[in-house]
Amino acid sequence: MTIVKEPDLGTPAKPGTPVVELEIDGRLVVVPEGTSVLRAAALAGVDIPKLCATDSLEPFGSCRLCVVEVAGVKGTPSSCTLPVAPGMAVTTQSERLGRVRRGVMELYISDHPLDCLTCAANGDCELQDMAGVTGLREVRYGYEGENHLAAEKDTSNPYFTFDPAKCIVCSRCVRACAQVQGTFALTISGQGFGAGVSAGAGEDFLASECVSGGACVQACPTGTLQEKTVIVLGLPTRTVLTTCAYCGVGCSFKAELRGSELVRMVPFKDGGANEGHSCVKGRFAFGYASHPDRVLKPLLRERITDEWREAEWDEAITFVARRLLQIQDKHGPRSIGAITSSRTTNEEVYVVQQMVRAAFGNNNVDTCARVCHAPTGYGLSQAFGTSAGTQDFRSVDEADVILLIGANPTDAHPVFGSRMKRRLREGAKLIVLDPRQIDLVRSPHIEAQYHLPLRPGTNVAVLNAMAHTVVTQGLADSAFVGERCEGYAEWAEFIARPENSPEEAAELAGVLADDIRAPARLYAAGPNSAIYYGLGVTEHSQGSTAVMAMANLAMAAGHLGRRGVGVNPLRGQNNVQGSCDMGSFPHELPGYRHVSDESVRAIFENIWGTKILSEPGLRLPNMFDAAVAGSFRAMYIHGEDVVQSDPNTHHVVAALSALDLLVVQDLFRSETSKYAHVLLPGTSFLEKDGTFINAERRINRVRPVMPPATGKHEWEIVCEISRAMGHDMRYDNPSQIMDEIAATTPTFAGVSFDLLDSLGSVQWPCNPAAPEGTPIMHVGKFVRGKGKFTPTPYVPTTERSTRRFPLLLTTGRILSQYNVGAQTRRTANLTWHSQDILDIHPHDATERGISDGDEVRLTSRAGEITLRARITERMPAGVVYTTFHHPVTGANVVTTDNSDWATNCPEYKVTAVQVAACMPGASGACDPAGALASLDVPAPAAVTVG
Ligand code: SF4
Ligand code: SF4
Ligand code: SF4
Ligand code: FES
Repeated sequence: MTIVKEPDLGTPAKPGTPVVELEIDGRLVVVPEGTSVLRAAALAGVDIPKLCATDSLEPFGSCRLCVVEVAGVKGTPSSCTLPVAPGMAVTTQSERLGRVRRGVMELYISDHPLDCLTCAANGDCELQDMAGVTGLREVRYGYEGENHLAAEKDTSNPYFTFDPAKCIVCSRCVRACAQVQGTFALTISGQGFGAGVSAGAGEDFLASECVSGGACVQACPTGTLQEKTVIVLGLPTRTVLTTCAYCGVGCSFKAELRGSELVRMVPFKDGGANEGHSCVKGRFAFGYASHPDRVLKPLLRERITDEWREAEWDEAITFVARRLLQIQDKHGPRSIGAITSSRTTNEEVYVVQQMVRAAFGNNNVDTCARVCHAPTGYGLSQAFGTSAGTQDFRSVDEADVILLIGANPTDAHPVFGSRMKRRLREGAKLIVLDPRQIDLVRSPHIEAQYHLPLRPGTNVAVLNAMAHTVVTQGLADSAFVGERCEGYAEWAEFIARPENSPEEAAELAGVLADDIRAPARLYAAGPNSAIYYGLGVTEHSQGSTAVMAMANLAMAAGHLGRRGVGVNPLRGQNNVQGSCDMGSFPHELPGYRHVSDESVRAIFENIWGTKILSEPGLRLPNMFDAAVAGSFRAMYIHGEDVVQSDPNTHHVVAALSALDLLVVQDLFRSETSKYAHVLLPGTSFLEKDGTFINAERRINRVRPVMPPATGKHEWEIVCEISRAMGHDMRYDNPSQIMDEIAATTPTFAGVSFDLLDSLGSVQWPCNPAAPEGTPIMHVGKFVRGKGKFTPTPYVPTTERSTRRFPLLLTTGRILSQYNVGAQTRRTANLTWHSQDILDIHPHDATERGISDGDEVRLTSRAGEITLRARITERMPAGVVYTTFHHPVTGANVVTTDNSDWATNCPEYKVTAVQVAACMPGASGACDPAGALASLDVPAPAAVTVG
């Protein structure tokens, strides 16, 4: 599609009633009260010239280009700051107005380089457009006076430049950074002629607080803030609408190309999840897709110590299918299995789980959600009857109280984090339960009412104590509970027991009892209170219990089933919701229906023409255990680097090394592919055709921006392997796969590519009862009928600090990197985070003789790693924190194999550790090559087949 500029109505919408009637250039216009005259005119098809106004920002009224005449009013007011009034008669075009506008343009142009022909913005510049629209023909002041033309360009940011010579000081970038991004990194410093944009206190962009989300670049009407790719490649000429492939926010982007080259990713204003906003990953970090490290041809080898050899697709597919069949022949049909990927599309996940159930003939399929949000699926399904969050993102705009638990949205879900910040600036109250002082606890114009730096592993105790307060202080919503829930009396008796009191929890969590009671009262009072949570809740031995405890709390307070409330998981991967929905679990077919249900099996058996086993298959950790034990012999891992991402690396490596056949499908060689016999090249999101589902159940289209660099789509590869194994899986395109998903899965019954193309996106359930999807769930009635209260006794993890391992390690992500870093490490995002760092409290550092920046050794009962320390009071004493973005760190070498009782989700968030300074040359020296380097590729796995 050629590039068409999205309409800009000048100022934000003011939804609702009452409405106002007015006249603009003789036309009758009816708009909601509070609408600006500029927007009202644009809605009526009258474009008033403008420069400092844009519809993503509140108006500022500085450029005076949008002046109008109003009958009975003296002067020429700016229409962007002028609200409509009943009976107003506005004139937008007159000789006088033209004179004023040309005067404004003359001033701008007299201090402007006017090198349009060589400017990267040439053809995409509002200043240029306005010179044309206003009929500017001369500049009476000349170009000789004092000017800014020699101002130095700031090229410090890896992705965009700032050229002050072209700046018209319209403040759009400053307002975008404040209003949209919520970072407040930019200001207008100086006054009059000396006024200019400054990043921080006179620093360059890179050194400033700028988070490079691109809101300023997006807002700039000139070439002042300009993408470096546009400077190098020229303006794009065509566009494809698609979805970001990083996090679970699921932002919509226009991929803009010149020929076949991707020039830039521009956030889509009508994107249901992002509404025109973006973060540094989706906006700029797409270079990995064309990185020379990409594997583009299948690689094969007999033994994992052999060199790889390139193969054609036919040979690779035959090799994989033949070996899988031979292994099954020798070791039984259940000796093989697969892992689906939350990085891939729903359609790709659907065919992988079908391959396992129909071609492998077992249910040994699991997903990387096992290691992140499996407890969400279990806990929410138990309480409400569905395994997903209850709200859409927009719902937070109506929350009065936000309870944020174990999540760090400004780093891990940045676009939603910005939305949450906006609501907090509007006055919503914030309660943070997190060991770390995350940014939201205190950042510009935001301060949490309560931050409970609870000891890792005590979520359930604190949530129970909050619920105890609600129940014992008579704050429960008895009408809601009476009408809509079951099991309340039994649960209330349990939760009111002394062992669930704030005093007990305070002792366990290392906080004050009153600091539990007060936020509990605030949450209960609402009137609209919403819970948002992340992996800091799920990745615990009691992850599922904590999810149910949050559900109990929300039901007791009546905060479900309407806007502004709910229980909302902030899901990690771009398609983790979808990969779960598509039947990736060993016990569930698509739509979370148990494999033991004969009627459900029959639906798929009829379509696939084969029998499905009624017993659940192996979970991911069970596959590893069975591989070590020798009964599980072959694995197909789709787009996941389990050696880096799964806990207890030594055990994972032992399992993979024991396999007769490991097939890895990925974009790059990875830590996991070191143990593979076959590496099938994968496709980047720019090559995929299908759908992702984000954290709010929103089904977004992923459209191919370019053909697969590997020559084959991943769904085609899976179909071919299945056919070579004897299961005749055939589709012409991913749209057909979605049609089959819709035909077999009630929550998706109304979904089709045509519907998504016409509506943009829909949130499931989308079926005849909700043909345009369901933004808010459980309105009036829970999916399971009555919401179910379940007692959630606190059972401490067995992982405790000891004399040998006195600190608790918890892990997480940072803004610029993504998970194991396979993508972001291959982009300029390395500028911000080139290594994993250990955050440690000053007291713990001093006790160990550690200074800021020192190399330290971190040891747990599972292993040992080396990294650099950062001393920070954001950590409570006794707790240390690191990220896991760099393989050289091998952060998961030290995490244990403790896991959630219900789902086996690993307990990444609690590991007892010791930290010591490395002493070069002494016995305390650390291994500079990193932890994974010490995991030698073991002796060749016995090749027993083939
Ligand atoms: S910013 Fe716009 S007006 Fe200025 S030189 Fe570039 S294209 Fe021309
Ligand atoms: S950098 Fe761009 S958006 Fe910011 S003040 Fe200058 S012209 Fe306006
Ligand atoms: S918030 Fe998430 S989905 Fe949106 S641009 Fe950033 S990484 Fe992509
Ligand atoms: S657009 Fe209204 S004053 Fe600039």
